[in-house]
Amino acid sequence: MRITRLIAATAMVVLIAGCGGGSSGGTTTPTSTTPPAASGGGDSAAGSVVYSKTCASCHGPDAGGLKGLGKALTGSAFMTDQSSDDLVAFLKVGRGPSDPDNTTGIQMPPRGGNPALGDDDLLDVVAYLKGLG
Ligand code: HEC
Repeated sequence: MRITRLIAATAMVVLIAGCGGGSSGGTTTPTSTTPPAASGGGDSAAGSVVYSKTCASCHGPDAGGLKGLGKALTGSAFMTDQSSDDLVAFLKVGRGPSDPDNTTGIQMPPRGGNPALGDDDLLDVVAYLKGLG
């Protein structure tokens, strides 16, 4: 059921963002009936592919974290408390070892170290991770 809602939400976002050039800087929220869980849109199925290619090497195949590499992203308040837009903004810059918010002393690289990832890919991965809970 949740998948169906995500797909519906994604279809709307694609329609809205289709010719927008991928910019996610704006704070405009589409005045649609998108359910809160998917308020930021994103395609979680596509996001799961992005995740396993780019993020799993540090965060683990199931996003449970890998010691010395990346934190657990499941059960993380950081993931659940922030909007999808905020999380995409975070992923674009990452979190360096000298960032005061850094808890491990290890770098979270911008775009997970993959500059080829567009903002839409990041939104997909956020949808995937939020779906994991
Ligand atoms: C080279 C290893 C590496 C890769 C690749 C990587 N990360 Fe990270 N990530 C980290 C580390 C290390 C941290 C923790 C930084 C800290 O100590 O605060 C982190 C933190 C995060 C956080 C913040 C979690 C929190 O609770 O503070 C998110 C969200 C995140 N990564 C998502 C991703 C996503 C999505 C990808 C793929 C696009 C990705 N990461 C790829 C190493 C990585």
